[in-house]
Amino acid sequence: MKYLFFAPLAIFLPLAFLKLCYALSTVFVLRHTRGALFVSTSRAKIRAILEVVPLSAGTRLVDLGCGDGRFLRAAYKRYGVRGVGFEINPWAYFLARFLNFLKGVPVTVKRKNFFEEDLSQYDFFFCYLFPDVLLRLAPKLKKEAPPGAVIVSANFPLPGWEPFLVLKVEDPLYFYRQESLPRNNPLLARQRTPKFLNP
Ligand SMILES: C[S@@+](CC[C@H](N)C(=O)[O-])C[C@H]1O[C@@H](n2cnc3c(N)ncnc32)[C@H](O)[C@@H]1O
Repeated sequence: MKYLFFAPLAIFLPLAFLKLCYALSTVFVLRHTRGALFVSTSRAKIRAILEVVPLSAGTRLVDLGCGDGRFLRAAYKRYGVRGVGFEINPWAYFLARFLNFLKGVPVTVKRKNFFEEDLSQYDFFFCYLFPDVLLRLAPKLKKEAPPGAVIVSANFPLPGWEPFLVLKVEDPLYFYRQESLPRNNPLLARQRTPKFLNP
């Protein structure tokens, strides 16, 4: 009889614990994420993005707010690219590191606010962020992303950017390309044009 009582508890307690981790970590970072919750991109969307943009092992890929790191792992599996992800939610960060370890995928996940990162060192950007975060990110990308860099934003558009492609896979996926920087921009000197996705 007592098993009947304990069996549901054995399922309920771990689930409740996971929910609690999610809730606490979300509250913990709310000031930075401004409500950009840890919600994952579907496999179908990731597949579609990787289909449209052929990467290579040398692509400098970054996932801005990488969640559990699924985009990075999918890109590695398909193209052998060792991307970098930034994540400030401790729960998502832990999950990403744990899953990378479990699946033996050599991508990098850093627990860092990507607004504090110099983005000029990447040439493929993926993000799934909410509009108020994108509003702050858009000018940073304009200033720092190297010419030819490709930016894919899932679900929400990048304010002030003109997409070269909008794909509908459940929700819209916006594809952008950084055209060029003003001649006097000091970043220009250390920019390299990516070899993939030529205009
Ligand atoms: C909607 S989720 C997307 C997760 C993952 N990119 C995916 O598509 O499955 C957005 C993630 O971005 C993270 N995030 C938001 N602002 C951030 C920032 N400034 N620096 C690092 N991570 C951030 C949040 O913690 C959240 O996990």
